[in-house]
Amino acid sequence: MTSSPLDELDSKVSELLVAIAALDSLDALREAEPGIIGKRSILSTLQKSLGALVSEDRSEAGARLQRARHEVEQTFEARRALLARDARRQGLEKDRLELGDVVVDNVRWAPTTGHPGIIAVTQGQLEDVFVAMGFSVSEGPEVESDWYNFEALNIPPAHPARGMWDTFYVDLGDPETVVLRTHTSPTQIHLMEDAVRAESLPLHAVMPGRCYRRDSPDSRHLATFHQIEGLVVDRGIGFADLAGVIETFTRSYFGPDTSSRLRPAFFPFTEPSAEFEITCTICKGSGCRTCSQTGWIELGGCGVLDPAVLHAVGIDAEEWSGFAFGFGIDRCAQMRHQISDMRALTENDVRFLERFS
Ligand code: DAH
Repeated sequence: MTSSPLDELDSKVSELLVAIAALDSLDALREAEPGIIGKRSILSTLQKSLGALVSEDRSEAGARLQRARHEVEQTFEARRALLARDARRQGLEKDRLELGDVVVDNVRWAPTTGHPGIIAVTQGQLEDVFVAMGFSVSEGPEVESDWYNFEALNIPPAHPARGMWDTFYVDLGDPETVVLRTHTSPTQIHLMEDAVRAESLPLHAVMPGRCYRRDSPDSRHLATFHQIEGLVVDRGIGFADLAGVIETFTRSYFGPDTSSRLRPAFFPFTEPSAEFEITCTICKGSGCRTCSQTGWIELGGCGVLDPAVLHAVGIDAEEWSGFAFGFGIDRCAQMRHQISDMRALTENDVRFLERFS
């Protein structure tokens, strides 16, 4: 019998399998990889030596070698998976936090249970009020293209109204084309587009979410804040419907002692537009630092949908009309709980947080 380069294949494979089983860490495995399954491995050397065989022997030997290689590679990968799982377990064990009682200077501190933050609670309550009035709840992305945040809302590039929103730009695509949304209004556009595509008008929805502006925080503003947007698109909708919704909302959320008023304003996406204010709950309308001595606090803006916005999303403004509103969830929390300075919402002072547990 002539000798073949594969005579010792079985014993070589057994040696490799033993070597794999002996690898006891991912580092050891990485180090051994070229010698076991890489170019420097015995199997690769054998592969090269097959060239010397006559052709019928070569194909049979090739198939045998292929099977051997498959077995070694599978065993190697199984070992890698096992070691990776062990490494992950060890990592988790190492990072484990001791959440039981902690004793410091002989004083035992029992862990306290957390609770949802005041903004999350307020958002839930606002959603409940609107759901009870027949609105559905939707959410949209926090990073938007210029088109959704501005253009589709009838605010063309370089329009002076852009000055109303101090925008953070995201370094993506062409300069100043991707923004952290400055309001929840772009979610209106997403919703109307979806409804057009699904042919599912009319629409009655509220859209809560986080927004961002390059604002300096003060007693009534945060650079990262929350709004809830409202949108109705239906037949024969006008300003009186909007006023009715705002009034019903104010009474249900703030109670019968709080008055609201609408003041003429300008927003490019609504015509007519209004600002929506309620009596300052901190001074009960007599004037204080929080309301800049006016007795009123602005919650947000609203108005009848400008036909240009309906056109932008392909809705026939002859057939459909609607209204929209958008106001601050943080402001609602501030007014409902008489928080004189909104910055308290982000300071994580436990004494403040515990007021809302
Ligand atoms: N998006 C506006 C803002 O943040 C508020 C607003 C005004 C929303 C009028 C509306 C609206 O939906 O119709 O300043």
